[in-house]
Amino acid sequence: MKHPHWWTLDVEAPFTIGPRELPGRVWTASGCFAYGLTGHDIAAQDIDSPYAGIGAVVTKTVTPQPRPGNPMPRLVEMPVGAINSIGLENVGFEAFIAETLPALAELAVPTVVSLAATRPEEFGSMVAELHAAGRDMPTWHGVELNLSCPNVAEGGHDFGSSPETVAACVAAARSHLPDRALIAKLTPNVARVAPLAAAAAEAGCDAIAAINTVVGLDVDLKTGRPVLPRRFGGFSGAGIRPIALAKVDEIVREVGIPVVGIGGIDTAEDALKFFALGCVAIQVGTAQMRDPFAAARIVQDLRRAES
Ligand SMILES: Cc1cc2nc3c(=O)[nH]c(=O)nc-3n(C[C@H](O)[C@H](O)[C@H](O)COP(=O)(O)O)c2cc1C
Repeated sequence: MKHPHWWTLDVEAPFTIGPRELPGRVWTASGCFAYGLTGHDIAAQDIDSPYAGIGAVVTKTVTPQPRPGNPMPRLVEMPVGAINSIGLENVGFEAFIAETLPALAELAVPTVVSLAATRPEEFGSMVAELHAAGRDMPTWHGVELNLSCPNVAEGGHDFGSSPETVAACVAAARSHLPDRALIAKLTPNVARVAPLAAAAAEAGCDAIAAINTVVGLDVDLKTGRPVLPRRFGGFSGAGIRPIALAKVDEIVREVGIPVVGIGGIDTAEDALKFFALGCVAIQVGTAQMRDPFAAARIVQDLRRAES
């Protein structure tokens, strides 16, 4: 790829987020590369491993209890992405700490752990336990708070749509995470995201990850009904890239906190757009599900030596 003249970053060089140095700036997004335990035994013609050059795998979001996820179908493919309603299917926090985290340590996968909860205090206790378990794990770099799931305590609204709730979750997590990066992942399903990012920054988080999926719906013309049993799902992929770029720009310009850009990044050119707006790192989501080498290929294409 021919790089633009302004491109100077080395995406494989270590860089700092808050108290932590991470090994690279191209990550895989939560929910799109499982727990980072698979794919270690595959190679493509031009690339050794799906993990080659990756700065972090953000693990599938883990909740306090295991979750079976929503009824099928859970994923609708669209011409410009997909709408999913997975329902946070995951092994639960206890199994994650007992089995997944040690396996990630063994494989030396650079890891950012994604957590979701239904109350701010739960974030605090999960982070405390994670910190105790991962304290000596050199490849565990941080926590991403998934603040886009329904808030049981407040009647099912997106957890992260109130600045007060965002601040409470970040503060609860920060008090137990002195030496790892704390990242708040925000919902795009609000008119303005900057007030949420500002609340997260003030409560002590080191960076914002933006964006999560955009509320979407598709209709099956055979039945005249929504395709997904729960009607709505989360729209992701190329179609949301302009929305993601707009939200990222709002946060970078109005809040100034480091931003990890996510949304419709399929290629190095897409990634460059997020870096051009000032993102410190990017994550690859839906593209990674279609091609497990997508993020590694983006690293390869952004390599400075090839410019
Ligand atoms: C199937 C699927 C599952 C996802 N699961 C999670 C999740 O568990 N936690 C989370 O924070 N985001 C989750 N996401 C959102 C992605 O991490 C990402 O923010 C979003 O898809 C936008 O990026 P993309 O357009 O590159 O996919 C999921 C997305 C998809 C498509």
